[in-house]
Amino acid sequence: MTDLLEQVRAREWFYTFELPDGSRTTTYHGGELDAIHDTRWKLLEHTLEGVYPGGYADLTAVDLAAHQGWFASRLAGAGLRQVTCVEQRDSHVADSRLIAQVQGFDEMRFVHSDIFDLDAGELGTFDVVLMLGLLYHLENPVGALRLARTLCRDLFVIETQVVPGMSGMVDFGSYRFVRPLHGSFGLIDETDETHGPEAGATGICLVPSVEALTWLLRKVGFRDVEVLQPPEDAYEQLRYGKRVMVTARV
Ligand SMILES: C[S@@+](CC[C@H](N)C(=O)[O-])C[C@H]1O[C@@H](n2cnc3c(N)ncnc32)[C@H](O)[C@@H]1O
Repeated sequence: MTDLLEQVRAREWFYTFELPDGSRTTTYHGGELDAIHDTRWKLLEHTLEGVYPGGYADLTAVDLAAHQGWFASRLAGAGLRQVTCVEQRDSHVADSRLIAQVQGFDEMRFVHSDIFDLDAGELGTFDVVLMLGLLYHLENPVGALRLARTLCRDLFVIETQVVPGMSGMVDFGSYRFVRPLHGSFGLIDETDETHGPEAGATGICLVPSVEALTWLLRKVGFRDVEVLQPPEDAYEQLRYGKRVMVTARV
Protein backbone atom coordinates (compact mmCIF):
# COMPACT_ATOMS: atom_id res chain seq x y z
CA MET A 1 0.00 0.00 0.00
CA THR A 2 2.83 2.42 0.81
CA ASP A 3 4.17 1.83 -2.70
CA LEU A 4 0.82 2.66 -4.24
CA LEU A 5 0.50 5.78 -2.11
CA GLU A 6 3.97 6.86 -3.20
CA GLN A 7 2.95 6.29 -6.81
CA VAL A 8 -0.11 8.51 -6.35
CA ARG A 9 1.81 11.24 -4.54
CA ALA A 10 4.65 11.26 -7.07
CA ARG A 11 2.54 12.97 -9.75
CA GLU A 12 -0.13 15.55 -10.39
CA TRP A 13 -3.82 14.82 -10.89
CA PHE A 14 -6.93 16.49 -12.32
CA TYR A 15 -8.68 16.19 -8.97
CA THR A 16 -7.72 16.72 -5.36
CA PHE A 17 -8.16 13.25 -3.86
CA GLU A 18 -8.08 12.74 -0.12
CA LEU A 19 -5.74 9.86 0.64
CA PRO A 20 -6.00 7.37 3.52
CA ASP A 21 -2.96 8.82 5.33
CA GLY A 22 -4.66 12.25 5.52
CA SER A 23 -2.64 13.78 2.67
CA ARG A 24 -4.09 15.02 -0.64
CA THR A 25 -3.08 14.76 -4.26
CA THR A 26 -1.68 17.83 -5.95
CA THR A 27 -3.31 18.95 -9.19
CA TYR A 28 -1.88 20.01 -12.53
CA HIS A 29 -4.02 23.17 -12.44
CA GLY A 30 -2.80 24.37 -9.07
CA GLY A 31 -6.21 23.78 -7.46
CA GLU A 32 -7.91 26.26 -9.81
CA LEU A 33 -10.65 23.79 -10.76
CA ASP A 34 -11.35 22.44 -7.29
CA ALA A 35 -14.27 24.85 -6.85
CA ILE A 36 -16.24 23.40 -9.75
CA HIS A 37 -15.78 19.85 -8.49
CA ASP A 38 -16.68 20.87 -4.93
CA THR A 39 -19.85 22.67 -6.00
CA ARG A 40 -20.98 19.71 -8.09
CA TRP A 41 -20.28 17.27 -5.26
CA LYS A 42 -22.25 19.46 -2.83
CA LEU A 43 -25.24 19.45 -5.19
CA LEU A 44 -24.96 15.72 -5.79
CA GLU A 45 -24.57 14.89 -2.11
CA HIS A 46 -27.57 17.07 -1.20
CA THR A 47 -29.65 15.35 -3.90
CA LEU A 48 -28.74 11.86 -2.68
CA GLU A 49 -29.56 12.80 0.92
CA GLY A 50 -33.01 13.98 -0.21
CA VAL A 51 -33.80 11.04 -2.48
CA TYR A 52 -32.40 8.27 -0.27
CA PRO A 53 -32.93 9.26 3.38
CA GLY A 54 -32.59 5.60 4.43
CA GLY A 55 -28.95 5.39 3.27
CA TYR A 56 -27.13 4.11 0.23
CA ALA A 57 -26.11 0.55 1.14
CA ASP A 58 -28.45 -1.03 -1.45
CA LEU A 59 -27.64 1.35 -4.28
CA THR A 60 -25.60 0.88 -7.42
CA ALA A 61 -24.34 3.71 -9.63
CA VAL A 62 -22.60 4.26 -12.93
CA ASP A 63 -20.50 7.33 -13.69
CA LEU A 64 -20.48 7.93 -17.45
CA ALA A 65 -17.20 9.62 -18.45
CA ALA A 66 -15.71 9.20 -15.00
CA HIS A 67 -12.27 10.67 -15.83
CA GLN A 68 -10.04 9.72 -12.84
CA GLY A 69 -13.08 8.56 -10.89
CA TRP A 70 -13.38 11.43 -8.40
CA PHE A 71 -17.19 11.43 -8.26
CA ALA A 72 -17.31 7.64 -8.42
CA SER A 73 -14.92 7.30 -5.49
CA ARG A 74 -16.94 9.88 -3.54
CA LEU A 75 -20.03 7.73 -4.11
CA ALA A 76 -18.13 4.64 -2.99
CA GLY A 77 -16.94 6.56 0.07
CA ALA A 78 -20.54 7.59 0.81
CA GLY A 79 -21.41 3.89 1.07
CA LEU A 80 -23.06 2.90 -2.21
CA ARG A 81 -22.93 -0.85 -2.69
CA GLN A 82 -21.27 -0.75 -6.07
CA VAL A 83 -20.04 2.00 -8.39
CA THR A 84 -19.02 1.54 -12.02
CA CYS A 85 -16.81 3.97 -13.94
CA VAL A 86 -17.11 4.21 -17.73
CA GLU A 87 -14.37 6.20 -19.46
CA GLN A 88 -12.96 6.34 -23.00
CA ARG A 89 -9.34 7.20 -22.06
CA ASP A 90 -7.27 4.25 -20.89
CA SER A 91 -4.96 6.48 -18.83
CA HIS A 92 -7.98 7.79 -16.87
CA VAL A 93 -9.21 4.23 -16.31
CA ALA A 94 -5.79 3.23 -14.98
CA ASP A 95 -5.78 6.30 -12.71
CA SER A 96 -9.26 5.49 -11.36
CA ARG A 97 -8.21 1.93 -10.61
CA LEU A 98 -5.12 3.12 -8.77
CA ILE A 99 -7.06 5.64 -6.70
CA ALA A 100 -9.74 3.05 -5.86
CA GLN A 101 -7.05 0.59 -4.79
CA VAL A 102 -5.36 3.16 -2.56
CA GLN A 103 -8.70 4.16 -1.03
CA GLY A 104 -9.70 0.53 -0.50
CA PHE A 105 -12.83 0.69 -2.68
CA ASP A 106 -12.79 -2.94 -3.78
CA GLU A 107 -16.34 -2.87 -5.10
CA MET A 108 -15.65 -0.34 -7.85
CA ARG A 109 -15.78 -1.57 -11.45
CA PHE A 110 -14.06 -0.03 -14.45
CA VAL A 111 -15.16 -0.12 -18.07
CA HIS A 112 -12.80 1.26 -20.69
CA SER A 113 -15.16 2.35 -23.45
CA ASP A 114 -16.64 5.18 -25.43
CA ILE A 115 -20.16 5.48 -24.03
CA PHE A 116 -21.53 4.98 -27.55
CA ASP A 117 -19.76 1.61 -27.84
CA LEU A 118 -21.28 0.24 -24.65
CA ASP A 119 -23.44 -2.85 -24.77
CA ALA A 120 -26.17 -1.52 -22.50
CA GLY A 121 -27.75 -4.96 -22.11
CA GLU A 122 -24.48 -6.38 -20.84
CA LEU A 123 -23.74 -3.43 -18.55
CA GLY A 124 -27.17 -3.67 -16.89
CA THR A 125 -29.12 -1.00 -15.05
CA PHE A 126 -28.19 1.19 -12.08
CA ASP A 127 -30.12 3.01 -9.39
CA VAL A 128 -28.09 6.18 -9.99
CA VAL A 129 -26.61 7.32 -13.30
CA LEU A 130 -24.17 10.24 -13.41
CA MET A 131 -23.29 12.18 -16.53
CA LEU A 132 -21.20 15.12 -15.38
CA GLY A 133 -19.14 17.35 -17.65
CA LEU A 134 -19.75 15.17 -20.71
CA LEU A 135 -22.80 16.20 -22.75
CA TYR A 136 -21.27 19.40 -24.16
CA HIS A 137 -18.31 17.45 -25.57
CA LEU A 138 -20.55 15.25 -27.72
CA GLU A 139 -21.86 15.38 -31.29
CA ASN A 140 -24.74 13.09 -30.34
CA PRO A 141 -26.13 14.47 -27.07
CA VAL A 142 -29.60 13.01 -27.68
CA GLY A 143 -28.12 9.52 -28.06
CA ALA A 144 -26.23 10.04 -24.80
CA LEU A 145 -29.45 10.97 -22.99
CA ARG A 146 -31.22 7.92 -24.46
CA LEU A 147 -28.36 5.74 -23.19
CA ALA A 148 -28.66 7.30 -19.74
CA ARG A 149 -32.37 6.48 -19.71
CA THR A 150 -31.68 2.87 -20.74
CA LEU A 151 -29.14 2.43 -17.93
CA CYS A 152 -31.16 4.21 -15.24
CA ARG A 153 -33.49 2.51 -12.75
CA ASP A 154 -34.20 5.51 -10.57
CA LEU A 155 -32.16 8.75 -10.48
CA PHE A 156 -30.27 10.49 -13.27
CA VAL A 157 -27.96 13.39 -12.45
CA ILE A 158 -26.58 15.38 -15.36
CA GLU A 159 -24.33 18.43 -15.25
CA THR A 160 -23.42 20.34 -18.36
CA GLN A 161 -22.41 23.60 -19.91
CA VAL A 162 -25.47 25.26 -21.50
CA VAL A 163 -25.85 27.99 -24.14
CA PRO A 164 -28.34 30.87 -24.34
CA GLY A 165 -31.54 29.49 -25.84
CA MET A 166 -33.99 30.59 -28.50
CA SER A 167 -37.71 30.22 -28.08
CA GLY A 168 -40.79 31.24 -30.03
CA MET A 169 -42.59 29.92 -33.09
CA VAL A 170 -41.02 28.88 -36.40
CA ASP A 171 -42.46 28.12 -39.80
CA PHE A 172 -41.75 24.47 -40.39
CA GLY A 173 -42.00 24.08 -44.17
CA SER A 174 -44.88 26.51 -44.59
CA TYR A 175 -46.44 29.50 -42.80
CA ARG A 176 -49.45 27.25 -42.24
CA PHE A 177 -47.37 24.76 -40.35
CA VAL A 178 -45.92 26.56 -37.36
CA ARG A 179 -44.12 24.84 -34.54
CA PRO A 180 -42.84 25.97 -31.13
CA LEU A 181 -39.10 25.84 -30.48
CA HIS A 182 -38.23 23.73 -27.47
CA GLY A 183 -34.79 25.25 -26.98
CA SER A 184 -31.68 25.21 -29.11
CA PHE A 185 -28.14 23.89 -29.44
CA GLY A 186 -24.87 25.79 -29.80
CA LEU A 187 -22.14 24.32 -31.97
CA ILE A 188 -18.66 24.50 -30.45
CA ASP A 189 -15.45 23.52 -32.22
CA GLU A 190 -13.11 21.38 -30.13
CA THR A 191 -11.70 19.54 -33.15
CA ASP A 192 -8.15 20.77 -32.51
CA GLU A 193 -8.29 19.74 -28.88
CA THR A 194 -9.47 16.11 -28.98
CA HIS A 195 -6.08 15.02 -27.61
CA GLY A 196 -6.83 16.97 -24.37
CA PRO A 197 -7.54 14.86 -21.29
CA GLU A 198 -10.94 16.47 -20.75
CA ALA A 199 -12.17 16.56 -24.36
CA GLY A 200 -14.57 14.43 -26.39
CA ALA A 201 -13.66 12.01 -29.15
CA THR A 202 -14.67 13.99 -32.25
CA GLY A 203 -14.44 17.63 -31.16
CA ILE A 204 -17.82 18.46 -32.70
CA CYS A 205 -19.76 19.64 -29.69
CA LEU A 206 -23.47 20.30 -29.54
CA VAL A 207 -24.26 22.25 -26.39
CA PRO A 208 -27.93 22.50 -25.36
CA SER A 209 -29.82 25.41 -23.89
CA VAL A 210 -31.36 24.58 -20.53
CA GLU A 211 -34.82 24.47 -22.17
CA ALA A 212 -33.54 21.99 -24.77
CA LEU A 213 -31.97 19.83 -22.07
CA THR A 214 -35.04 19.66 -19.83
CA TRP A 215 -37.39 19.08 -22.80
CA LEU A 216 -35.15 16.28 -24.11
CA LEU A 217 -34.93 14.59 -20.72
CA ARG A 218 -38.72 14.32 -20.65
CA LYS A 219 -38.86 13.18 -24.29
CA VAL A 220 -36.40 10.32 -23.75
CA GLY A 221 -38.52 9.04 -20.87
CA PHE A 222 -37.52 10.74 -17.62
CA ARG A 223 -39.99 12.40 -15.27
CA ASP A 224 -39.66 14.94 -12.43
CA VAL A 225 -36.96 16.88 -14.25
CA GLU A 226 -35.50 19.50 -11.90
CA VAL A 227 -32.82 22.13 -12.45
CA LEU A 228 -30.94 22.30 -9.14
CA GLN A 229 -30.48 25.61 -7.35
CA PRO A 230 -26.75 26.18 -6.82
CA PRO A 231 -25.59 27.32 -3.36
CA GLU A 232 -24.52 30.95 -2.77
CA ASP A 233 -20.84 29.99 -2.78
CA ALA A 234 -21.14 27.93 -5.99
CA TYR A 235 -18.49 27.97 -8.69
CA GLU A 236 -19.28 30.99 -10.89
CA GLN A 237 -20.43 29.03 -13.94
CA LEU A 238 -23.06 27.20 -11.93
CA ARG A 239 -23.99 30.25 -9.93
CA TYR A 240 -24.69 32.30 -13.07
CA GLY A 241 -26.42 29.55 -15.05
CA LYS A 242 -23.66 28.92 -17.63
CA ARG A 243 -23.61 25.34 -16.40
CA VAL A 244 -26.48 23.51 -14.77
CA MET A 245 -26.98 20.38 -12.75
CA VAL A 246 -30.30 18.68 -13.42
CA THR A 247 -31.93 15.66 -11.81
CA ALA A 248 -34.52 13.40 -13.37
CA ARG A 249 -36.31 10.24 -12.22
CA VAL A 250 -37.49 7.10 -13.93
C1 LIG B 1 -14.68 17.41 -18.82
S1 LIG B 1 -14.26 15.76 -18.41
C2 LIG B 1 -15.47 15.43 -17.15
C3 LIG B 1 -15.04 14.36 -16.20
C4 LIG B 1 -15.96 14.12 -15.00
N1 LIG B 1 -17.19 13.45 -15.39
C5 LIG B 1 -16.25 15.40 -14.30
O1 LIG B 1 -17.33 15.94 -14.46
O2 LIG B 1 -15.37 15.90 -13.56
C6 LIG B 1 -14.88 14.84 -19.79
C7 LIG B 1 -14.54 13.36 -19.71
O3 LIG B 1 -15.34 12.67 -20.65
C8 LIG B 1 -14.57 11.67 -21.27
N2 LIG B 1 -15.26 11.39 -22.53
C9 LIG B 1 -15.49 12.26 -23.54
N3 LIG B 1 -16.23 11.69 -24.51
C10 LIG B 1 -16.50 10.41 -24.08
C11 LIG B 1 -17.22 9.32 -24.62
N4 LIG B 1 -17.83 9.43 -25.81
N5 LIG B 1 -17.27 8.18 -23.93
C12 LIG B 1 -16.65 8.05 -22.72
N6 LIG B 1 -15.95 9.05 -22.14
C13 LIG B 1 -15.88 10.22 -22.81
C14 LIG B 1 -13.20 12.32 -21.40
O4 LIG B 1 -12.19 11.36 -21.63
C15 LIG B 1 -13.08 13.02 -20.04
O5 LIG B 1 -12.60 12.13 -19.08
